[in-house]
Amino acid sequence: MGTGRAITEMLLVLKVSLFFVIATAVLGVGNSEHAAARNINIGHHGGRKLAETPSPEFKGFISIDCGSNVEDYIHPTTGIPYTSDEGFIDTGIAATASRYYDDPVKQTLRSFPQGKRNCYTLRPNEARNKKYLIRARFAYGNYDGKDKGPVFDLYLGVNKWRTVDDTNETYHEIIHVASTDYIDVCLVNIGQGVPFISALELRHLDSSMYRIESGALLKLRRIDVAGTGNSIIRYPDDAYDRYWHASQKDDWIKIASNSTIYASSSGEAYGLPVEVMKTAAKTQNASIPLKANFTLDPLSKYYCYFHFAEVEKLESGQQRELTISLDDQRSYLTESVILDYLTPRTIVQDNPPITGAPRLFLSINAAQGTHFPPILNAYEIFKLIELPNEPTATEDGMPSSLFYFSCMDYKAIMEIKTRYNVTRNWQGDPCVPSNYSWDGLNCTNDNPPRIISLNLSSSNLTGDIDTSFSKLELLQSLDLSFNNLTGRLPQVLEQLPNLNTLDLRGNKFTGSIPEALLEQFRNGKLDLRVDAHPDLCLYTPCKGKKKKEFVIPVLASSITAVLILLFIVSALAIYRRKRGSDVVTKSSIKSKNRQYSYSEVVKITNNFKNIIGKGGFGNVYLGKLEDEIQVAVKLLSPSSNQGYKEFRAEAQLLMVVHHRNLVTLVGYCDDGENKALIYEYMANGNLQHHLSVTNPNVLTWNERLCIAVDAAHGLEYLHNGCKPPIIHRDLKPSNILLNENMQAKIADFGLSRAFATESDSHVSTCPAGTLGYVDPEIPTSGNFNKKRDVYSFGIILFELITGRPAIIRGPMRNNHILDWVYPLIERADIQNIVDPRLEGEFNTTSAWKVVEIAMSCALPVAIQRPDMSQVLAELNECLAQVFTRGRNQRMTTECRTSSMPHNTFHLELESEIAPFAR
Ligand SMILES: *[C@@H]1O[C@H](CO)[C@@H](O)[C@H](O)[C@H]1NC(C)=O
Ligand SMILES: *[C@@H]1O[C@H](CO)[C@@H](O)[C@H](O)[C@H]1NC(C)=O
Repeated sequence: MGTGRAITEMLLVLKVSLFFVIATAVLGVGNSEHAAARNINIGHHGGRKLAETPSPEFKGFISIDCGSNVEDYIHPTTGIPYTSDEGFIDTGIAATASRYYDDPVKQTLRSFPQGKRNCYTLRPNEARNKKYLIRARFAYGNYDGKDKGPVFDLYLGVNKWRTVDDTNETYHEIIHVASTDYIDVCLVNIGQGVPFISALELRHLDSSMYRIESGALLKLRRIDVAGTGNSIIRYPDDAYDRYWHASQKDDWIKIASNSTIYASSSGEAYGLPVEVMKTAAKTQNASIPLKANFTLDPLSKYYCYFHFAEVEKLESGQQRELTISLDDQRSYLTESVILDYLTPRTIVQDNPPITGAPRLFLSINAAQGTHFPPILNAYEIFKLIELPNEPTATEDGMPSSLFYFSCMDYKAIMEIKTRYNVTRNWQGDPCVPSNYSWDGLNCTNDNPPRIISLNLSSSNLTGDIDTSFSKLELLQSLDLSFNNLTGRLPQVLEQLPNLNTLDLRGNKFTGSIPEALLEQFRNGKLDLRVDAHPDLCLYTPCKGKKKKEFVIPVLASSITAVLILLFIVSALAIYRRKRGSDVVTKSSIKSKNRQYSYSEVVKITNNFKNIIGKGGFGNVYLGKLEDEIQVAVKLLSPSSNQGYKEFRAEAQLLMVVHHRNLVTLVGYCDDGENKALIYEYMANGNLQHHLSVTNPNVLTWNERLCIAVDAAHGLEYLHNGCKPPIIHRDLKPSNILLNENMQAKIADFGLSRAFATESDSHVSTCPAGTLGYVDPEIPTSGNFNKKRDVYSFGIILFELITGRPAIIRGPMRNNHILDWVYPLIERADIQNIVDPRLEGEFNTTSAWKVVEIAMSCALPVAIQRPDMSQVLAELNECLAQVFTRGRNQRMTTECRTSSMPHNTFHLELESEIAPFAR
């Protein structure tokens, strides 16, 4: 039986992993797995075909002829379509070289006499996490009549690529895995002439080629040994359009194959061109090695790739055998390499990289006792460059259906740039490198940096204030003074929690100043600068009739502004008092996700009338907002030594994490000693309660599946939808809450961090978590990561399946659920695994499937556990299976509606029901 076998295999994995853990612990062989791994990679046979074209229409190619005035053309020798650079850059001057080049790409160029940094932005269909070869080409051609090429810096996005000092005719190439959805190539003026560029080429590489663990690979050499042509070999011979240069040492003997290398029989991961591989060099006899040496920078790291294919037909049964040495010490890169006739083979030296040596001594020898001289067909040498700077935070790549978590700065500032057509030198990354950050912008030095101030004073901005400004979450200072901005002041600006300076003078706004801004101003939190204008009335709501009373003379200094605003505010207060208090309170209570005063909390909880739970940090009360929406209010006990900043930061963090399977934080109260968190109310309590033996309403199998899928959704979002990922750290059934429709939501995420000081003050090194759900690997590795939550999730799945708690306390010792369930799994005894209270009412196939998923989650070695996205996909499959087999109903309906009566156990005092039960 398939399932049975899969289970047996998994048990085997489990045992091997256990053995590994024990061996590691006993022998102290940390990292033995890595130590055992070979330090070489040998290209495998049977992959892609030789010189296979990635796609007929140059998919993954971007070919830009800079400064070209012809729109698109087909390159005469390669057939590659090149486009002009119009759509990729909006600065610089197109120019033509004054000498003639055969390659039309070199004939035109773009120079950048203005601006310190100018950037091309390339947007391939998919950039993020894809591997690209990026090539910048330069041919000075005395275009400016100065007879001297400039020297300037080339940047890959926010990181320096290299200095270009050989501009007469050269190209530079880098291999890089993009971390963003775009690739910026920038030229930076370093005061030694005007930067220029002739062409820019981007080629998509297969992800298996050229391993890059971090940084980028700068190409130093790509040699077609004993190549025949006098021009470089590139597309179409090389499907990836790498440039291969022919080279040959005098004492090397050229050999070549007359028969073509059989593309079909010689699959090879590096897509090597036949033209390159059919020629090779050899030495006179087997006692002479092929030798070459190269100067290295001892501080850099280098990687070498050697490409071989037997091109001589040897006597039948005979094979050439080689060894490769790189350091003149006869220490071999690999065991001997045996070559097959006409079959490419790549030997890679990439782990560890070559470093610390001033020279590389390459020597290829015939293996001991063999009598065929060594050969070499091609090789490549790369230098690793680090890319230490991260681009400004971007939201791109987040699932669009989800709310943002943070990191929207890049998107927001680009929206602002486009919306107002900002004419300054705003190119490349807004913040990095810091000395080239955009005019009027200040950023933090974090990695990634965040935008903290924006000065668009006197920038000819027109129209109204765009909502994009409010997405610059960490903005402290915004200067929009002396533009032609019109319209009403938007409410959104008050959403910027750190805003302390807002200058709006010299514009033509109408309407009223939003109350919240005035309040911040009143509290001394905001330096608000506005000038009065007949159309800008300074009270809420705007009343045409009374307008005149509040008209203020134009202000010159902000001090006057402060005084006058204070006057307005008090006038406003009086005006309000007359009208009754309904105006203020109603609107403020209604809006969710906000800060509440203590008196509001008293009102919401009806003076703390209904306790619905008790957690480690204080009581939880039932509350009701003005719009009748029920909430759970968790009051933090005043004795809590929780730091003010941490509490606020955490509350704000929780308020921006939204997902239907995460309990929503509605707001918080941070009023002196009184601190409270206000959550959406979950009518059906927590999962622990539902699984407990005392609960008479047994969850059906399908309900359990739905809860598992819901919880997996929530956890998957925390892990993969948030950047940086949020690790729950204390996942357990009492933290999985159920609403009135039995929809499951995860609670308490991120709280372990906020409240760490409280619970772990005496043992600060002890990781948070609950006995039974804590990853067994933690004591050794000590760090929190996603895989730890996956373990806890596996335990919860087992609880859903078996109906048993994670730990069964016994008279002698506690019994863990895994110790109980594994023997039954080994015996394939599904009937005894599944909760007996279901009385056999479950689908065996789906039960096995969930058991398998739970086992993979609870594997003892963290790296072997799946990611939550995979867990979610597999659980969804189970769900789909059950529902297509069962009643022919739609899955969503099944999951969201419940036959269960609306329980009232939220009133039971002793149980931990509320979102913060612990
Ligand atoms: C290999 O060639 C070298 C140089 O021609 C010669 O001195 C040497 O004797 C040769 N060795 C063998 C085993 O033929
Ligand atoms: C913004 O720039 C203008 C002109 O450069 C300057 O006068 C003003 O003080 C700046 N605003 C802030 C808030 O720094």
